[in-house]
Amino acid sequence: MAKEIKTIGVLTSGGDAPGMNAAIRAVVRTALNKGLNVKGIQKGYNGLINDEVIDMNKRSVADIIQKGGTILYTARCLEFMTPEGQKKGAEICRKHGIDGIVVIGGDGSFRGAQKLAEAGVNTIGLPGTIDLDIACSDYTIGFDTAVNTAMEAIDKIRDTSTSHERCSIIEVMGRNAGYIALWCGIANGAEDILLPERYDNDEQVLINHIIEGRKRGKKHHLIINAEGIGHSTGMARRIEAATGIETRATILGYMQRGGSPTCKDRMYASVMGAYAVDLLCEGKSNRVVAYKNGKFVDFDIDEALSMKKDISEYEFNVSALLSK
Ligand code: ADP
Ligand code: F6P
Repeated sequence: MAKEIKTIGVLTSGGDAPGMNAAIRAVVRTALNKGLNVKGIQKGYNGLINDEVIDMNKRSVADIIQKGGTILYTARCLEFMTPEGQKKGAEICRKHGIDGIVVIGGDGSFRGAQKLAEAGVNTIGLPGTIDLDIACSDYTIGFDTAVNTAMEAIDKIRDTSTSHERCSIIEVMGRNAGYIALWCGIANGAEDILLPERYDNDEQVLINHIIEGRKRGKKHHLIINAEGIGHSTGMARRIEAATGIETRATILGYMQRGGSPTCKDRMYASVMGAYAVDLLCEGKSNRVVAYKNGKFVDFDIDEALSMKKDISEYEFNVSALLSK
């Protein structure tokens, strides 16, 4: 028989993402409404190991749904990757009577959650990352806000780029995943999109494309470059030298990870937070909440981590056709 959960913990781990606060609020209030105790674990697995655990009540999560970042702070924790660190984490859970944990983060954080589940603490993961790179889910908390933030910034760069008839390289976040670059590339009508999953480092192709565009009367040339490819400043210098067209690089950086979450991020994060607590109350463990084919669903973490996801070839081709 499934063990009855009395106290749950919630933590945020890995890179922060707008909407994490909405998820924390939903976890805390759903659990309290069910008569459970709730503990907030600060600074991800780091705070768990160092016993940075606080009591949460309904007022602890007041006035946060509209805020970016995470009120519980977040961190990366090397020690938790070791069996000793994981043992320490599970012991701290036992000390506080925490029998279920909601972990809000990316794939790495889910690997940590797997380890806690193995050590006897029921765990549920919520997909929290601006990168959208969680294979089991069509949605991740923070992506919608991040792409909207980047899109608005790129619109502004486009204005000045056109006025000066320049080429602009705009670097967006995504070390391993190009979803932000792809979405902004399409939404901002960029002439080129460079994705870590696709780019072959052939700058001559870009140079030819810019020159052809100019011949066809294009007033600007926007290149959205994902962080994983990087080197935007050097690329701009080389393109300017080869084409004779003034070229500027802008690295949008961490502004994409902050700011007030969009309606979608607040709404989805809230539903996912409540869903996670429901799963814990049903005695479930080692599961991740996802949004798949228009529905909120859950997967076994082992299965979720074995899934693969790739950039859509069709979407990538559409972007090239529409910017001609
Ligand atoms: P994300 O959750 O965004 O993918 P990371 O990959 O940085 O971010 O992982 C966040 C944290 O999760 C790591 O700092 C570490 O504490 C924990 N973690 C990652 N991989 C493992 C693992 N294999 N075993 C245990 N804990 C892990
Ligand atoms: O959270 C995802 C992300 O923002 C990636 O897009 C980026 O590559 C990475 O985190 C940056 O991490 P850090 O905060 O360690 O610089």
